[in-house]
Amino acid sequence: MESLVSAVSPDAPESADAALIRRTLAEIEPVSDKVTSYFYAMLFVQHPDLRALFPAAMDTQRDRLFKALLTAARHIDDSDRLTAYLSHLGRGHRKYGTLPDHYPAVGESLLGALARYATLSWGPETEAAWVRAYTAISQIMIDAAAENEAVAPAWWQAEVVSHELRTPDIAVVTVRPDQPYPFRAGQYTSLETPWWPRVWRHYSFASAPRSDGLLSFHIKAVPAGWVSNVLVHRARPGDVLRLGGPVGSMTVDHTTRDGLLCVGGGTGIAPIKALIEDVATHGVRRRVEVFYGARSDHDLYDMDTMLRLESSYPWLQVRPVVSTGPAAGRANGVTGELPDAVRQYGPWQEFDAYLSGPPGLIRSGVVALVGAGVPTGRIRHDSVDELVPVGE
Ligand SMILES: Cc1cc2nc3c(=O)[nH]c(=O)nc-3n(C[C@H](O)[C@H](O)[C@H](O)COP(=O)(O)OP(=O)(O)OC[C@H]3O[C@@H](n4cnc5c(N)ncnc54)[C@H](O)[C@@H]3O)c2cc1C
Ligand code: HEM
Repeated sequence: MESLVSAVSPDAPESADAALIRRTLAEIEPVSDKVTSYFYAMLFVQHPDLRALFPAAMDTQRDRLFKALLTAARHIDDSDRLTAYLSHLGRGHRKYGTLPDHYPAVGESLLGALARYATLSWGPETEAAWVRAYTAISQIMIDAAAENEAVAPAWWQAEVVSHELRTPDIAVVTVRPDQPYPFRAGQYTSLETPWWPRVWRHYSFASAPRSDGLLSFHIKAVPAGWVSNVLVHRARPGDVLRLGGPVGSMTVDHTTRDGLLCVGGGTGIAPIKALIEDVATHGVRRRVEVFYGARSDHDLYDMDTMLRLESSYPWLQVRPVVSTGPAAGRANGVTGELPDAVRQYGPWQEFDAYLSGPPGLIRSGVVALVGAGVPTGRIRHDSVDELVPVGE
């Protein structure tokens, strides 16, 4: 997800609207949970027709919309970053069935919730500043969605064509989209299953674009996870899923020949496999060093594929890393934690680095890579926390 972290330079002069917005935000911060609940209650009481767009269970993740609104308002002075972030979000909203007419309803509820809880800073001027901010924010999203209509569907239907259980809780699911699905290796999509309508989760493409147009995903069923469990334990060939558009910037820069350092934990190996195929397709020899981590040898569910790729491509080296026990019976296997293994085999100054896996791995991986001399600008990874689009 596009981030707004450090969007505003500390030296930039603040606009009058931004100053008013900041005061409201400071006032509601300690009661943000209450403001969020009030916002949704108002939205659904006054516009019951909108309830059907949202999932049946509105759990704690539901504050994403409200949080994003507040964050976008906070960064109202940085129009470039704001436009990049909100355009992406506006395009992504097409799959929810969001229409331009829905935006005023959300705006009313936002203002209603702020007026109710920011009593000290609220007044005609503050309200006018929020109206201007919300109008700008929603217009960017509406415009981006409208532009996107000309080039892509709101969603794709995708029929499951194969389902292969690799371990008791990891499946490789391959689908056939109902129309061409353009994407780049290293990206991911949002996916909805027929069993949990309107519940969308992100999954990485496990291959570079294929000539037969099929898309594969490696899914791990997490304890009590809604979508992952039905994908692993229930989905079968013939079932039809829905996909949103492709997203993500963990893609290969083909204008350089620098080496690629790829660190994948668990199903995080999926997009890395796609990156290897991408490098192979471009035919330019670049060093690709892969660290593939899991808890134990048994959890390295895609090691055979990685070994096959390694034996086909002399520029590729794959090192299994496991927390406990021996690593895939390989001389170059490492027992330990992934970030430590990466540090041990450095330095990596001349490499572009790719990190994929659970949020904890990405965070510790970034620290290890920076420690091993990789500039932060050369480290790419999936969203660490898809629920929080900005540094709050
Ligand atoms: C950019 C991106 C790419 C992703 N790619 C993949 C992929 O290729 N393959 C894949 O399997 N997943 C991937 N994920 C994770 C995926 O989006 C879901 O979060 C995951 O499948 C859990 O969804 P769920 O609906 O089953 O669980 P939820 O119903 O959302 O969660 C249920 C419970 O499980 C907990 N939980 C969530 N995730 C985990 C976890 N990993 N381990 C332990 N507990 C957890 C939650 O905190 C919650 O308590 C990716 C995530 C992102 C942000
Ligand atoms: C300027 C206004 C808005 C902002 C900033 C915003 C932001 C967000 C964000 C950040 C999410 C989380 C998931 C994602 O990244 O796609 C989200 C989800 C969603 N939004 Fe919006 N949104 C806005 C307006 C709207 C409107 C007008 C509607 C239509 C009623 C809407 C409906 C939804 C739905 C249905 C979801 C999915 C909820 C879920 O997955 O639980 N949004 N929104």
